[in-house]
Amino acid sequence: MGTALRHFEKTAFGKFVMYVSAIEGHRLWASVYDSSLNPLLALERRAMGDVLKGIQPSTMIDVACGTGHWLLHFQDAGSDVFGCDACKEMLNEATKISSLRGRIALADAEDIPFRDSIADLILCSVSLGYFRNIGGVFREFARASKAGGFIAVSDLHPDALLSGWTRSFKLGGQRYDIEHHRRTVQEVNRAAADAGLSPKFHREACFTTSEFSLFQRAGKQDLFRTVKSIPALFICLWEKPC
Ligand SMILES: C[S@@+](CC[C@H](N)C(=O)[O-])C[C@H]1O[C@@H](n2cnc3c(N)ncnc32)[C@H](O)[C@@H]1O
Repeated sequence: MGTALRHFEKTAFGKFVMYVSAIEGHRLWASVYDSSLNPLLALERRAMGDVLKGIQPSTMIDVACGTGHWLLHFQDAGSDVFGCDACKEMLNEATKISSLRGRIALADAEDIPFRDSIADLILCSVSLGYFRNIGGVFREFARASKAGGFIAVSDLHPDALLSGWTRSFKLGGQRYDIEHHRRTVQEVNRAAADAGLSPKFHREACFTTSEFSLFQRAGKQDLFRTVKSIPALFICLWEKPC
């Protein structure tokens, strides 16, 4: 699943960056993913949490579930949860949570291993930019969703990418940049509309003082001042019409 693309390049600032495919990147990132200082994930948990506050699905699917944050959240709230991800090492981290064992599968977002019309909520957080064909992914979301079910997606905002934000992480002093696809929010909405989904809600989320301490702990207070006015994430909610 995915290529193991890996090559070094020298940046304009004379530093070497390793470029990796989405699956190779997450394979390397997996063991430290949850313990890394990551303001973007902190913002996602806060902003997506606000959007989903009123939604209590009986069955929830997390596509590209990673280490299982949202699965655990909804399981604790009483939902029957299922997840999939294309990276075995990310799923290995999720299976350290015993209640998630047997509920997650290794699968590509374009071909999810769930029955038709099964979920009241399908969630896909900070992952859409890694998928090659979002048309196929949204068709899978629509297929697996019940009529009247919700599909919630968050991802890095195109404006954040334009202003220099990267999809990267550091490991052992080396920066890794993860291969991804740049898309506008309009392109995302078009893929959802083509799959027959109706838009319900759209939000852009910026860093606030809630995330400041994470920037501070990483010694990046100045970066916080620069990025706080730029939308860092978009969150969209659609409904599968009845
Ligand atoms: C930034 S992580 C987000 C994980 C999780 N949703 C979260 O909020 O922490 C992106 C995830 O997308 C997964 N991924 C990348 N390409 C994928 C694909 N084509 N199909 C399924 N999962 C994929 C990666 O393995 C990784 O777990």
